[in-house]
Order: sequence, then structure tokens, then C-alpha cells
Amino acid sequence: MDKLAIIGGRPLYGEIPISGAKNSALKVMAASLLCEEALTLTNVPRLADVDMLLRLLEQHGVEAMFEGSTLSLTAGTITSTEAPYDLVRKMRASFNVLGPLLAREGKAKVSLPGGCAIGARPVDLHLKALEAMGAKIELDEGYVFAEAPGGLKGAVVSLPFVSVGATEHTMLAAVLAKGATTIENAAREPEITDLANCLNAMGAKVSNAGQATITIEGVDRLHGASHAVLPDRIETGAYVMAVGATGGELTLTGTDASLLGAALPVLEEAGLIIENGENMLRVKQPRERCKAVNIVTQPFPGFPTDLQAQFMALMTTADGVSTIKETIFENRFMHAPELSRMGAKISVDGQTATVRGVERLKGAPVMATDLRASMSLVIAGLCAEGQTMVNRVYHLDRGFERLEEKLQNCGALIERVKD
Ligand code: EPZ
Repeated sequence: MDKLAIIGGRPLYGEIPISGAKNSALKVMAASLLCEEALTLTNVPRLADVDMLLRLLEQHGVEAMFEGSTLSLTAGTITSTEAPYDLVRKMRASFNVLGPLLAREGKAKVSLPGGCAIGARPVDLHLKALEAMGAKIELDEGYVFAEAPGGLKGAVVSLPFVSVGATEHTMLAAVLAKGATTIENAAREPEITDLANCLNAMGAKVSNAGQATITIEGVDRLHGASHAVLPDRIETGAYVMAVGATGGELTLTGTDASLLGAALPVLEEAGLIIENGENMLRVKQPRERCKAVNIVTQPFPGFPTDLQAQFMALMTTADGVSTIKETIFENRFMHAPELSRMGAKISVDGQTATVRGVERLKGAPVMATDLRASMSLVIAGLCAEGQTMVNRVYHLDRGFERLEEKLQNCGALIERVKD
């Protein structure tokens, strides 16, 4: 398994192009199953998760062509309505093929995704939404067997709590349902709006995406379209935090500070200077150390859970004590003991971590069990004294495009070590 060797202590200076958002690309790719014509996506990041979903889509009969960051997907004929365990278990977003297959073909057999390192992550809300739209669902031998022979029907889907995946899955199914669907208590993440924009470009009628109540007027068919995937706000936030930890000044291109939601004022309060420009932002860290700030993760526009681990890395060397409360996933502090191995002072009590900033971290061999936790260790490694060896780089390859190259171009001493 590849590792990343980092020699810390160098400020970052330069320019980093931000890639398209992984968590948006995966959903708009699933939308290609909804029509016979080509869906051309631009700004698609080349990531292991994108490749994984491509394999699944090809297995359903989708013809794919990837050139640079442009991906063309044509689902002329659906050759299989089954999504096997091996392809779904490795990446939960694969489960989102269920709704489109059901909407277009009237049936689907999709493996249940199972739990993952950050929490149990059930899919009950996804299934309830499809049932509300008239699907007959049975669970057997780890698979969801779904049928809607007469087609799906519009319904009121009222989510008991905000779920990004359930909101997206309902949208992906409702666009071809008969009649109108209303999603109440919908997620408002920018990726939801991006999916709605893509579906609308294909001829769907989705209104009010980005607000708490989304309405979808079903249409008979969708057509081919082109869509540019929105910039990755988590990659953006991670590089902003890297500057916070190391010092220096970065220009991030192809992105926008407004995508950071509540993370923006928090980072400014921590002492970072962030200037928003047209399709770019500039960030600098004028102080020796950041100021400690408390955060609570929340659905958008709150502080994103996907930046919590990176923020904790930033707070390990902040001036003061910060508390970090995770409210979205029940097991998302696995980076804390690894950061402690580098000299961080962190205590975890239930869903709250208390971080007492230290002057300096010390490099160490570390390992993380998920994508964002791995990025937090990279940030810690970049500011620590000496060498940090980050194990299990495959987590990073799932979600951060050309990570070492982007950081090397800005003066970081970081290298991939092949095993
Ligand atoms: C998406 O996961 C993202 N993944 C996650 O990013 C992100 O952390 C999360 O949204 C929250 O922003 C993708 O987009 C591929 P949820 P999702 O449904 O849709 C519970 C990353 O690092 N829940 O909003 O799965 C669930 O267990 C990843 O890129 C149910 O109980 O998140 C969680 O506690 C990790 N039943 C909460 O809701 C359900 O049916 C919110 O999850 C669905 C969810």
C-alpha cells in the first residue's frame, strides 16, 4: 500500500487549481441512467471513487468516454438492473443507482451498502422515500429488491432529519415519476443544487433546490445535456486550512469562498485572511499561530462534517483551547488518536473533542481509516517538525485529486512512497 512521506515546517506559497466536487460528480453520474442520450459532464475529478462508479454504470450498460476532465455517459439501453455487492460495498454512493434504475426500468436489485468507518450510515430514509413514491421494496440476502411496474408516482417525502443522500436519491427517482413530488426538510448542500441544475438541463422540472422544500414535477422522459460539476468545497476548505497550519499564501482557482458556508467566518475568526475573487480565492495566514475557535458540525449552511477532521488538525497548533462537536456521524474522531501521536493534546468525550493547542507538532508514522481523516493527517504533517509518514494513501486517492502534485507545486516536501 502506498504511503505519503512529508517533511513538515515549510509554508505554502503558490496556486492550486480546485477540482470538481467528488460528492457532486458521483450523483450527476448516476443521473446518466435516466435517459438514452449522452450526458456530458465537465470538471469531473479523476478519483478512485469516480472510477468505481464508472465500473458500476458500465455494468448497467452505460457507454463511457473520459477525456481529461470531461466524461461522456450514454445509457442507450440498460443491460442490467442489478448492482452487485462487490461494487456497492466499496463505495456507498453506488447505492444511488437504485432510484434511477427503478424510475426508468420499473425494477432494480441493488446491494445494501453496509456500514462504514465513520458510522452505521443506514439507508432507511432512501427506501422510505421510494416506497412513498409507490415502489414495492423487499430486503433479502443483503439486497434491496425494488419494483414499480406501473412507474413511480409523485409523493410528499418528509425527511425526519436532513439527509444529503436521501434528498438526492428522491430527486433522482422523482424526475421521471407521474405527478409532483415535494421533499420537505431537504438537504441544502451546494451539491443538491448542482444535481438539480444537471437534471433540469436534461429536461427535468426541479424547483427550489438549495431550500428546505424542493418540488419536482415529473416528466415523461429526459434528454441528453452538458453540465459542469461544481467546484469541490471540501478540497477548497482543506487547502485553506493547510495554509492556516503552515503559514504562507495560496491562490485557489476554479472555486469560490461562498461554497465554504459557515466554515468561512470560522476560518476568518481563526485569523486567516480570505479574499474572494472571480472564480478564485486568495488565502493567507499572517499570524504565527491561528486562534482557537469552537465549532459544531451541521448540515449546510452549517460547518461541514467533511471539514471537521482538517479543522481539528488546524486547531492542534492554535493559540488556546477549542471544542469540536460532531453531530452528523457517530464515529468521526478517528483522526484524534493519530494526531495525538504527533504531539497534539486532544481529549474526546462522546461527540465532543477538546483540543489544547500546542506550539509545534512532531512528525510520526500515522494511519487513518477514512478520506477526510487522512487529509487532516496530511495537514498536520505539513506543519509538523520532521517526517510524517501517512499510511493507507488509497483513502486520499478516493477524494483528493493529484494531492501530492498540487502541494509540491506550492513548496511542500511531500512524496508518494510505493510499497
Ligand atoms: C454525504 O453522505 C456525503 N457523501 C458525505 O461525504 C457527507 O459527510 C455527508 O453527505 C454529510 O454532508 C456523498 O455525498 C457521497 P447523509 P450521506 O445522508 O448522503 C443518517 C466524504 O467524506 N442517515 O446526509 O450518506 C446518516 O447515518 C463523505 O466525502 C440515516 O440514518 O450523508 C448520518 O448520520 C463521508 N438514514 C446522517 O443521516 C438514511 O437513510 C446524515 O447522512 C440516511 C442517512
